[in-house]
Amino acid sequence: MNSMAARRRHPATLVVMLLLGLLVTGVIYAAVDSGTSAQAADQKWSETQVEAGKKLFAEGCSSCHGLGGGGSSIAPTLIGSGAAAVDFQVSTGRMPLAAPGSQAPVKGVIYSQAEIDAMAAWVASLAPGPAVPSDAMLDTSKADLAMGGELFRTNCAQCHSFAGKGGALSDGTAAPTLMNATPRQIYTAMVTGPASMPVFSNATLTIEDKQSIIKWIGSLQANDNPGGLSLSRLGPVTEGLFVWIVGLGALIIVAIWIGVKAK
Ligand code: HEC
Ligand code: HEC
Repeated sequence: MNSMAARRRHPATLVVMLLLGLLVTGVIYAAVDSGTSAQAADQKWSETQVEAGKKLFAEGCSSCHGLGGGGSSIAPTLIGSGAAAVDFQVSTGRMPLAAPGSQAPVKGVIYSQAEIDAMAAWVASLAPGPAVPSDAMLDTSKADLAMGGELFRTNCAQCHSFAGKGGALSDGTAAPTLMNATPRQIYTAMVTGPASMPVFSNATLTIEDKQSIIKWIGSLQANDNPGGLSLSRLGPVTEGLFVWIVGLGALIIVAIWIGVKAK
């Protein structure tokens, strides 16, 4: 009787351990997730960031933009450009410009996001300007996709084409493809209007409008993907999967250990 009960406990223990493991996995994932979103929340730049940014700027940008960011004969002033302009220009690899030319080419990004944040903090400290978006502002889960398509066709397609693949402009420059732009870059492009692109302030296109446009471009990007697993961008899904695999792995090991111990 006693030994029967003891034996029957094994499957139940396993189920409990499974549930516990799932719970722990969930908690770990939530912690990882909020950790990444907290850092991009609407910016209250720290004094340390501003100081670090000033130094990075002096080393990498001041030769053209001037030590105080006031510009020179070869580069525009950044006073009033705001954090969003720095974020856009440096995260797309446009800045630092290798040599003054007609249009800043998109190339490899040489600064980390923390360094970009620091320089953005310093430029934002010079004068008010467009701010970088918070994660909530980039959340498109409730955005209206059809509205996004409409807004895209009326505001963006004449330069970037209906499919978002870009196109030549009359002044000899080109509107680039949008297939590689992140939601953050789409947002910062709209609020800063790089080169000949107009500025779409939040009065022209509300934050909700911007969210639906971002969602629409996302759908264009998804259709552009020929298929297969895309692991080149570590996103929340990949991170979640990683935590799942590690969490489940640990859980299975515990379950096996309990099984062995019970014998
Ligand atoms: C070789 C010169 C050069 C260097 C170095 C350089 N820039 Fe620029 N920057 C320019 C020029 C020229 C423009 C204007 C380009 C354009 O309008 O497309 C510009 C534009 C910008 C803008 C857009 C301004 C606005 O109001 O929209 C930002 C922001 C910027 N640079 C930041 C930086 C930062 C940050 C660095 C250092 C990491 C840097 N730049 C390094 C030449 C330079
Ligand atoms: C008048 C033409 C024009 C219109 C209208 C326009 N853009 Fe642009 N856009 C440009 C040009 C030119 C650039 C490149 C700027 C540069 O290289 O400095 C650009 C760059 C961008 C980029 C950066 C892409 C990358 O990966 O580097 C994004 C994102 C973008 N635009 C989104 C939009 C969205 C969204 C709209 C509509 C709300 C829009 N644009 C409307 C001309 C335009």
